[in-house]
Amino acid sequence: MTPLFDSDSSQRSEEQLEEGAMLLRGFAAAEAPVLIDEVARIASAAAFRHMVTPSGYTMSVAMTNCGRLGWVSDRTGYRYTSVDPDTGAPWPAMPAAFIDIAVRAAAEAGFANYDPDACLINRYIAGAKLSLHQDRDEKDAWAPIVSVSLGLPAVFLWGGKRRSDPVRRLHLESGDIVVWGGPARFFYHGVAPLKDGQHPLTGSARINLTFRKVF
Ligand code: SIN
Ligand code: FE2
Repeated sequence: MTPLFDSDSSQRSEEQLEEGAMLLRGFAAAEAPVLIDEVARIASAAAFRHMVTPSGYTMSVAMTNCGRLGWVSDRTGYRYTSVDPDTGAPWPAMPAAFIDIAVRAAAEAGFANYDPDACLINRYIAGAKLSLHQDRDEKDAWAPIVSVSLGLPAVFLWGGKRRSDPVRRLHLESGDIVVWGGPARFFYHGVAPLKDGQHPLTGSARINLTFRKVF
C-alpha cells in the first residue's frame, strides 16, 4: 500500500489487487457529495427498482442507470438497453462529474482514454448483497469496470478467474474506487450483506456507481 499524501485527511492510498486491478482508497472522497446529488437527480427521472433475475429471484440491491446504455435484468435475461423499460424514456445522461471521476480513476489504474457508455447505480440497504459474479454482458473485454463506493461502508468480495478461487474481503469506505480491466476484467466479485448504519451523505444506504464500456 502506497500513501499518496501523508497529511491528507481523505487518506488516499493505492493497492494493486492483481495485474489490471487496483483499489484506489479515498480517490473520490472530495467528489462524493456532488456524486450523491447527481444520483438523486438521476433517480428522480429513472427510479431505483428491484430487478428480477432470469431465474425469478428479486435482487436485494435496488438499481437504476445513466448513460447511453443501462443494464437491466428480467425473466428473459440480462442485457443493455438505451431506454428505461419502466418509463420508455432514454436513461438520464451521464453527468460530467461522473465521467470525470471514472476517466481519472481508470487512468490512475493504467487504462488511458476510458470512454464508458453505461453507469449502473446500485443502492444497498442493511442486508442487501450481491452474490459473487462476473460482469460479462459487455462486448469490450478489456476496458475496465470502475466501481465507486459512496455512503455506508461495505465488504467487497474480490475473487479470482474461477468461482472457486479464494475470495478476499476488502473493506470499502465512501470515496473508495476499485478498477478492474485487462487481464482482471472477468474476475469474480460481489458485496457481502450490508451492515446497518448511518452515513452523513446517504443515511442508511450505500450507493455504488459501476462504469462500463459496453461497445
Ligand atoms: C457490481 O458488481 O456491479 C457492484 C459492486 C459494488 O456494489 O461494489
Ligand atoms: Fe459486478
